[in-house]
Amino acid sequence: MSNLLGTAVGLAFNAGTNPVAIASLVPLVAAALTFIRYWNYDPETHPSSVEKVLNEYDFIVVGAGSAGAVVASRLSEISNWTVLLLEAGGDENEISDIPSMCGYTQMSEMDWMYQTSPPGDSPYCLAMIGDRCNWPRGKVLGGSSVLNAMIYARGNRYDYDKWAADGNTGWSYEEILPYFLKSEDNRNPYLAKTKYHKQGGFLTVQESPWRTPLAVAFLQAGQQLGYEVRDCNGEKQTGFMIAQGTIRRGTRCSTAKAFLRPVRNRPNLHIAMYAQTTKVLINDHSKRAYGVKFVRNGKEQMVRARREVVLSAGAIASPQILMLSGVGPKDHLESFGIKVLSDLKVGHNLQDHVGLGGYTFIIDDPITFTRKRYQTVAVVMEYLLKESGPLTNPGVEGLAFVNTKYAPEHGEWPDVQYHFAASSINADPDNVKKVTGLRDSVFNTVYKPLGDSETWSLLPLLLRPKSTGWIRLRSKNPFIYPDINPNYFTHKEDILTLIEGIRIGLNISDTPAFKRFNSRPYKMPFPGCRQYEFDTDEYWECSIRHFTFTIYHPTSTNKMGPSSDPDAVVDPRLRVYGIKNLRVIDASIMPNIVSGNTNAPAIMIGEKGADMIKEDWLSVRKMLNV
Ligand SMILES: Cc1cc2nc3c(=O)[nH]c(=O)nc-3n(C[C@H](O)[C@H](O)[C@H](O)COP(=O)(O)OP(=O)(O)OC[C@H]3O[C@@H](n4cnc5c(N)ncnc54)[C@H](O)[C@@H]3O)c2cc1C
Ligand SMILES: *[C@@H]1O[C@H](CO)[C@@H](O)[C@H](O)[C@H]1NC(C)=O
Ligand SMILES: *[C@@H]1O[C@H](CO)[C@@H](O)[C@H](O)[C@H]1NC(C)=O
Repeated sequence: MSNLLGTAVGLAFNAGTNPVAIASLVPLVAAALTFIRYWNYDPETHPSSVEKVLNEYDFIVVGAGSAGAVVASRLSEISNWTVLLLEAGGDENEISDIPSMCGYTQMSEMDWMYQTSPPGDSPYCLAMIGDRCNWPRGKVLGGSSVLNAMIYARGNRYDYDKWAADGNTGWSYEEILPYFLKSEDNRNPYLAKTKYHKQGGFLTVQESPWRTPLAVAFLQAGQQLGYEVRDCNGEKQTGFMIAQGTIRRGTRCSTAKAFLRPVRNRPNLHIAMYAQTTKVLINDHSKRAYGVKFVRNGKEQMVRARREVVLSAGAIASPQILMLSGVGPKDHLESFGIKVLSDLKVGHNLQDHVGLGGYTFIIDDPITFTRKRYQTVAVVMEYLLKESGPLTNPGVEGLAFVNTKYAPEHGEWPDVQYHFAASSINADPDNVKKVTGLRDSVFNTVYKPLGDSETWSLLPLLLRPKSTGWIRLRSKNPFIYPDINPNYFTHKEDILTLIEGIRIGLNISDTPAFKRFNSRPYKMPFPGCRQYEFDTDEYWECSIRHFTFTIYHPTSTNKMGPSSDPDAVVDPRLRVYGIKNLRVIDASIMPNIVSGNTNAPAIMIGEKGADMIKEDWLSVRKMLNV
């Protein structure tokens, strides 16, 4: 930390009067000053990492991400239970705390930096180096809630009602809503007073206190197209809204900040950072999980669980760890010489929200969100002193949930989501290239000509893709990343739905609200798509397969389902089939991906999962009268 401070101050000194140099180090200065502020005033001291892990705990939670941090926090409320939380990464820092810097922690040591395997017959990410999509995942206390864009969305009532209808008792919308509310501390009074929000929980939710004038245009455009402006986390989802975020006093509210910092002094909760779990230990005969192996400081260790092991390592690592431990598809495991303890479809059913990236519109007025415009000392001071201003804005200012002609006719289960940003690739090209892996050739021909144009963008995403993929082992070595194959667009309907979503986007730009600024779509084709005329189906399909954009919502690789479901990995109480004392509690259990960003649902799953553990063990205790 003091290094960071020193560097920032040193650089500031050396930068002299060169305005470009000053602009580029404002984030550092901001970080340094944030640090000073934290040191002096922030009551929320970070949790510390235990040096020595004991031999045994009641519960071991693997992964301190969106769900895992919640599980460890809630289980340790029972003072008679000892809980170990193992996290492969380290702690958050001042950069990850600044909302507008949210793209800057990708490709850093806080990121696992996964990539998809090169596609097969249904190509995607063709504009990216090696035809691979980057898949960032948080490797840090708080997990992907430290890297994400902080958007708070819950999905659609029908998503959860379908989970329940498919045999997942307890997961209907009415039954899970209390768990969203349990976490929440909503700081927007107009929302907090409705029955869909609450105050007083651990997780702070609020709109960013600052936005560009275009955010209002976006809402007006929605109305002009016949949509309602509403709280899409409320009674109905279809419509346009200002994004709600996991933001506290203008800074990121990760699950580590929300759920772990307040309980950091509980003697029964041990947090071990830089501890990567490599295997769940399962007794061959009794099929009971009794602990885990992990590697810390280059040393392999083991720790025992008296009651349960909970995997909360996320939709990529949880299936990988299960397979390494003998839980997974029989043939696949046997091909690596892994003894099969439970033959389950682990790693199947991978789902993700995917859409068209770099979908850019141009306007004439100087009101967009560019780095140059907002990286000034005044902006930094506003952030530091008032917890407000452009630095508190993660970039996505508005959200919309709309119906294409393929959506259910009743109109309440939209199939496309937009993320609206008052900027596009040209506002911050270097970081975009870094985090997406966009080829220089593509950038130079398509986006470079935009120069300093005033741009805004829409990210149209498929909410319920039909195409599913898989996570498979590539090695028995836990440090070798698994094969990630999302199989995007293998179903033609996914492409057709997205094309409709893109065209509704053109209509958004054509509304009076945006026409006021002379908004028009940017029509430069990708190098591989020049043979198609703008706005033909072929043009859009080609564009989608080139600038394929996921907002990193992999889910469903340990599908929850009733025992009659041959694809199910966990039961509706999140217990792994065939293995005792082992649960999975993270985004991998979603039977189908929810129709919205996945962080809030992962937190809800953490809340409900922890509650089910308490119900199961405390009722046993009651029965035994202890
Ligand atoms: C760049 C980015 C932007 C996103 N933007 C948004 C957004 O704006 N809104 C939204 O709702 N969602 C967003 N998401 C998605 C959302 O953050 C995730 O869906 C959610 O965080 C998943 O929660 P999880 O608990 O399943 O996994 P994670 O939060 O990823 O947690 C898994 C944890 O387990 C740890 N771990 C993994 N393997 C091991 C091991 N072997 N041993 C020990 N620990 C291990 C990881 O380091 C990590 O801390 C975004 C994701 C990314 C990456
Ligand atoms: C606390 O836990 C221990 C062992 O885990 C058990 O023996 C004891 O009965 C528990 N006490 C209470 C009050 O639950
Ligand atoms: C876009 O607007 C035009 C003109 O109102 C309309 O005909 C068309 O159906 C709209 N497109 C979509 C995909 O809704």
